Amino acid sequence: MRTPLFRGTKRWGLLGTCLLLSSILLSACGENSPSILNTYGPVAHSESYVFWVILVIASIVFVGVEGMLLYSIFKFRERPGMPHPRQNHGNLKIEIIWTIVPMIVLFVVLFFTVQGLLQVAPENQPTDKPVINVEAYGHQWWWEFYYPDYKITTADSLHIPAGSTIHVDLYSNNVIHSFWVPALTGKTDLIPGHHNQKWFQADQNAVGKTFLGICAEYCGTQHGNMRFEVVVDDNNQFQTWISTQQQAAATPAGGLAAQGATLFASQCTSCHGIVGVDLKPNQGQQNQYGYNDPEKTCDLPNSSCLIGPNLTHFGSRHLIAGGVLAYDANSPACNPDNPNLLKECGLAQWLNDPQGVKPGNDMAINQLTPDQIKELVAYLESLK
Ligand code: CUA
Repeated sequence: MRTPLFRGTKRWGLLGTCLLLSSILLSACGENSPSILNTYGPVAHSESYVFWVILVIASIVFVGVEGMLLYSIFKFRERPGMPHPRQNHGNLKIEIIWTIVPMIVLFVVLFFTVQGLLQVAPENQPTDKPVINVEAYGHQWWWEFYYPDYKITTADSLHIPAGSTIHVDLYSNNVIHSFWVPALTGKTDLIPGHHNQKWFQADQNAVGKTFLGICAEYCGTQHGNMRFEVVVDDNNQFQTWISTQQQAAATPAGGLAAQGATLFASQCTSCHGIVGVDLKPNQGQQNQYGYNDPEKTCDLPNSSCLIGPNLTHFGSRHLIAGGVLAYDANSPACNPDNPNLLKECGLAQWLNDPQGVKPGNDMAINQLTPDQIKELVAYLESLK
């Protein structure tokens, strides 16, 4: 015997509860969760505008069509003794109306979409604001950012000044990635062998905020762990950040950090660069290995190109390995004297077992002892 799906108040209650709970799920958007609707720059404003236009048009169509359908179902439902309804098959007038009206609706959608596309196109990058140039490199699976005008390299952390135009050149030498900062700009792919560009700006009310950036194109098993942060500064903060980043890494005077520095120089420099250790200052982009752009060649003194992130000012960053772990150099958890360092500090967890934390990544190291991890943590977090 078939059981009806919703029998009795219990099941209807269950359905109601599920609906209510799902509305909580859908509304769980805190201030820091990436949203294309909570925008902080003209490019994202323009893109969310297109979204709203389409949503409003689609809603009107939905309500109109469903309304007519429901009205017809109730108004013209069959009653005993009713004659057959009039048949409209082949009615030329109706055929023309329901061809033309959707056409007009779709042309309106097309108009707003093309208008939005033109507003954010690389060709229409505004010329009235100072320009900050950034080269973004998609690795498997982390982001490298190089500022050619300042000759500094960071990983997974992009600082930008509010009110400037950020021009981004996008490169990949492996697979296709996609650069996406929902609050600031939509997605643009990084395609091997193809030079894509984009621009965006952050409004003044974004100053002091950090936005989540995401890889938006499936690029391998750790695609979901390919995040970055965009820190929006005011002009002064940005200039301070630039001049700090341009300095070579400080050499620790002694103690654990100095031991860590020695260990780093002997074990880590075949993959990682630190200005002042194995990289010279102002040397330009250090970290490329075989990019397809002929102008982008590795120019390391030892001509071996680095495959890991440049760590010159690692202590000022907040994400490890594309955000698979969070990190705060100032937190008590990452104090090298913390007895639970290996469990509580993201950096120590990473150094202890990079393949366990993020299987398939390029970090291949011999197992470090807890003391070595302590020394490296002390050294790396001294690199502010
Ligand atoms: Cu890179 Cu997905």
